[in-house]
Amino acid sequence: MNTILITGGCGFIGSNFIRYAFNQHDDWHIVNVDRLTYAGNPENLKDIESDARYTFIHGDICDKKLIGSVYREHKITGVINFAAESHVDRSIMDATVFFETNVKGTMVLLDAARQFGIERFLQISTDEVYGELGETGYFTEKSPLKPNSPYAASKASADLLVNTYYRTYSLPVLIVRSSNNYGPYQYPEKMIPLMIIRAMEGKQLPVYGDGTNVRDWLYVGDNCRAIDIIFKDGITGEVYNVGGSMEITNINLVKKLLDILGKPESLISFVTDRPGHDRRYALDISKINEELKWESIGSFDNKLRETVQWYKDNAPWWKNVLNKNDYQDYYKKMYSKRKEEVR
Ligand code: NAD
Ligand code: DAU
Repeated sequence: MNTILITGGCGFIGSNFIRYAFNQHDDWHIVNVDRLTYAGNPENLKDIESDARYTFIHGDICDKKLIGSVYREHKITGVINFAAESHVDRSIMDATVFFETNVKGTMVLLDAARQFGIERFLQISTDEVYGELGETGYFTEKSPLKPNSPYAASKASADLLVNTYYRTYSLPVLIVRSSNNYGPYQYPEKMIPLMIIRAMEGKQLPVYGDGTNVRDWLYVGDNCRAIDIIFKDGITGEVYNVGGSMEITNINLVKKLLDILGKPESLISFVTDRPGHDRRYALDISKINEELKWESIGSFDNKLRETVQWYKDNAPWWKNVLNKNDYQDYYKKMYSKRKEEVR
């Protein structure tokens, strides 16, 4: 039996990954350490919470004592670190907790991994560490790190730290850098669930700037499959890009969502841009494609439709989130100062 520590497993990608891994690996026991911040929701794993192959520990990855005891008592063999503060806009308001969790927390996990002789340590990173692209080109794993937001800087810092543990201590680490994920259980501060839910409620859709920024969208199920393959077969010390090869401007994506939902484009409202807003992200995924034979499966339109359907079918899940004071305070703080701009 492998005992895998998954951090941040109550968040969006972590919970999708735990469910995926459960179906793939009968021989895994999963220990999920999650601090249950505003983004951590135990409801995301309700269907497996009482499974004998699953242990949940409510705790902080920055807590050295707790993490040491988790590695020791559960005889952890591998680690996948999803835990992070993950929202760019929040990092622009206050970067403190981003550096605590994303950098210090990663260091605590790495130190314990050294101490307890962990066999594989997979760091979940992001394409945002590369900075932004212009109209053309793609980021490869060799592109320089040029983060532009405090969030991206904290993730790049963690990546640099992970690399040093490989070089200095020969810790068997790997890094995954993925593009923008979408799918079930995504916290509705991120663009796709925010737009779907607001459109369903007939509310204005706040598109930043002129809406021409480009993101490369990756279905969370495809990302989970990539993470699983990299954890199993990736070469230690290496970085792997994982992208959906699905570039689209924000405004065209919002229009697509409105079309799927049968809602009018008059709901779109252009608002003050995000400071330092990265223009375009796009990943060269030839390394994972050629070396590990991974590719995304199915069409973007179908996966987007399925995602919309999931939010339609799971209104109690998102209504619960929206009704919390956390969410309402955040929305007011983030959007009340953004002026509507006529385009
Ligand atoms: P999320 O915000 O939905 O979830 C983060 C989870 O981490 C939550 O469950 C939260 O409670 C937990 N957490 C936060 N601080 C913690 C701490 N100190 N100790 C323990 N748990 C803590 O994030 P997500 O979108 O699922 O992202 C997961 C990972 O993937 C992050 O590392 C993020 O940087 C990376 N990533 C995300 C995307 C994306 O599009 N969402 C794309 C690329 C990379
Ligand atoms: O690229 C990977 C990254 O993708 C991850 O590392 C981050 O954790 C994740 O949050 C995501 O970052 P983005 O900033 O790209 O995602 P977000 O959903 O916040 O925004 C997507 C695009 O939509 C971006 O160009 C900003 C724009 N946007 C976003 C929101 C929330 C809007 O126009 N209006 C909005 O209200």
